[in-house]
Amino acid sequence: MKNILFVASECLPFVKTGGLADVVGSLPKTLDKEYYDCRVILPLYSFMPQKWKDMLTYHSHFYMDFNWNSYYVGIMECEYEGVHYYFIDNQDYFTCDRPYDGMPYDIGRFAFFDKAALSILPSIGYRPDLIHCHDWQTGLIPVYLNSSFQENEFYRGIKTVMTIHNLKFQGIWDVRTLKDIVGLPGYYFTPDKLEYNRDGNMLKGGMVYADAITTVSNTYAEEIKMPYYGEGLDGLMRARSNSLRGIVNGLDYEEWNPAIDKNIYANYDVKSVIEGKAKNKEALQKELGLTVDPDVMLIGIVSRLTDQKGFDLIAYVMDEMCQDAVQFVILGTGEERYENMFRHFAWKYNGKVSAQIYYNEALAHKIYAASDAFLMPSQFEPCGLSQLMSLRYGCVPIVRETGGLKDTVEPYNEYEGTGTGFSFTNYNAHEMMNTVRYAEKIFYDTKPAWNDIVTRGMEKDFSWKNSALQYQEMYDWLIG
Ligand code: ADP
Ligand code: GLC
Repeated sequence: MKNILFVASECLPFVKTGGLADVVGSLPKTLDKEYYDCRVILPLYSFMPQKWKDMLTYHSHFYMDFNWNSYYVGIMECEYEGVHYYFIDNQDYFTCDRPYDGMPYDIGRFAFFDKAALSILPSIGYRPDLIHCHDWQTGLIPVYLNSSFQENEFYRGIKTVMTIHNLKFQGIWDVRTLKDIVGLPGYYFTPDKLEYNRDGNMLKGGMVYADAITTVSNTYAEEIKMPYYGEGLDGLMRARSNSLRGIVNGLDYEEWNPAIDKNIYANYDVKSVIEGKAKNKEALQKELGLTVDPDVMLIGIVSRLTDQKGFDLIAYVMDEMCQDAVQFVILGTGEERYENMFRHFAWKYNGKVSAQIYYNEALAHKIYAASDAFLMPSQFEPCGLSQLMSLRYGCVPIVRETGGLKDTVEPYNEYEGTGTGFSFTNYNAHEMMNTVRYAEKIFYDTKPAWNDIVTRGMEKDFSWKNSALQYQEMYDWLIG
């Protein structure tokens, strides 16, 4: 039996802001339980819904030196769907309304979390053979493990994997403050280690000290070796390219299954998708105040409203696109200018555009089920799960060819009758709009061809099966 420990800042069903939570919430339960004892450590955020807090039981607590103080580290635990979860309790660091409050709060919050995650291991009597770290919030784990923790026999030989879900966020703060907070010796803050451009960088630390680095698609693994996508770390990516690989994300096929999904208005599968989608579309149009029209092409967007997702392209041509026979439904929160932009278009094109500016899991399911197409023109996309959800729900993705979007959406080829979606190459608003219009043409003029695209998409397998095997192979290889 091999012990694999996941440490992350978000995880379904407890807390989610984006795809990271989907991945950390679904990969551990797909690993082969006969060979792997996989457990997960998360922060116990004060805002976590009471229903989940009620599931937790107290394990133990101790005090830990951190940032010139001695801090309470409480350990709470629960078992959920066959996976053992530990939650680190500390009110100074985890009393908040959301996981990320910006710098410098987040630096303290997650540096504390990383040290605590390592420190609780002897108390819970679980020695991982490998710690799988996710994103910058856990970047200090490989670094701490390399430092004072080595003095304790318990920690020696533990392997680490650093998975990059989004290179944009790195946990950066000036060296002096960072060094003070995290309590690592000065020699860790040199350009070959945690320093970058005279700042301290937590993700960089993780990447330097982890035994292996992965990211969430093959294309993104290649892209981040180039300056355009490398967010300043492309040199390090190239230097560590032998230890860097892409493993595309899977989707939780139990959670995301239109045949049994309790969140949607009518269940359907690949054989009944036409009628099923029609029912879902009508109900969603009614619920959101869109003009009820079974024939109109409904385009969905479910997303964090940030630059990453290509909303400046949409802003540029939204008026023009709204002249077409289409409806838009948007569910998302994020940057104010995009929230206001969609509110504006919903007001201007009342009945044609619906803007739902909040976070709602159930509505997300309804949108994938009701929409004919899903628009995701990302500037960069490490993997993307929304397009996988769309494919599974017979909602045709229209994407930019980048990162995981390129690896998971096969562009429609009308001559060969192949493909599962529509895509464009350049980050250009008119190229995007032309692609949307090409999709409209297929939708309205050649319905059988459209329906075949839907079917091919639904028949693709993006469950965790294949990707979990690749992670397992990597774990075995590293642990030896
Ligand atoms: P990212 O992790 O960059 O945000 P992904 O496509 O990997 O992008 O994952 C986004 C996840 O978050 C999907 O599960 C999507 O359905 C969900 N999501 C994003 N915004 C919302 C929202 N406002 N309400 C519900 N779900 C949302
Ligand atoms: C990040 C990326 C997204 C990816 C998700 C899960 O949030 O932006 O592309 O799907 O992590 O790996």
